[in-house]
Amino acid sequence: DVIREWFGLNQLEHQLEKQLGLNKVIVVAGNSLTQPWVKNDLGRSAVQQLKQWAEPNSVVSVAGGTTMEAVAQAMTPHPVLRTLLYVPARGGLGEKVEYQANTICSEMASRSGGQYRLLHVPDQLSKEAYASLLEDEQIKELIRIIRSARIVVHGIGEANTMATRRKASPQMLAKLKERQAVAEAFGYYFDRDGNIVYKIQTVGLRLEDIKQADHIIAVAGGEDKAEAILAFLKHGVHDCLITDEGAARQMLQYI
Ligand code: G3H
Repeated sequence: DVIREWFGLNQLEHQLEKQLGLNKVIVVAGNSLTQPWVKNDLGRSAVQQLKQWAEPNSVVSVAGGTTMEAVAQAMTPHPVLRTLLYVPARGGLGEKVEYQANTICSEMASRSGGQYRLLHVPDQLSKEAYASLLEDEQIKELIRIIRSARIVVHGIGEANTMATRRKASPQMLAKLKERQAVAEAFGYYFDRDGNIVYKIQTVGLRLEDIKQADHIIAVAGGEDKAEAILAFLKHGVHDCLITDEGAARQMLQYI
């Protein structure tokens, strides 16, 4: 705590809580853009928060990405965490297997001793295939469980970085640029004012379902993500932000 005080981390947290209207902000030391190990600290903080907030036997819905992968790596056996059911927030978004929400939730469950369910949805679905998938009883039941999650844990990405990583078509990249997308979370893209400007067609959690959760834990750091984090938070579905000093200081410059 003395070290946190020394680096002014507590002060950064209070400042961001006030300015962004968040219930809780945790700032870890460093900048994950230039210091990749800082992502592990973000992961550890997210797990600590999960331990504090999780109700036994409840559902936790988790998104994908490299930050969420760090969260999964930080999971340890724990009396409450092992009673939880981990489910992916949304189906395929075009990510590599190791960063898919399915992979992350199975890893979180196996490291903590909990249960998990997987959502098998192909990445590129036609409207017709999507509609018939939604008729499937097992998928319907799983979507119901996903939407009943008490806690949602997710990353936030910079729009262009995410679209490129997911090998978006040139048409989609052009559309995101034209609509001035700057942030991405759960396969939704947002402009600077927090408006949804594009969403990937898949099943699972809709942004309106997230509001039903008791807690929403956003985990995102690195000074290059400052603008994206602010844009996503402007959309209005937020509660707790776990970030690093690099992103925190940059955000305060933008506000
Ligand atoms: O869905 C992915 C997130 O938006 C960001 O991913 O943690 O790898 O930057 P990341």
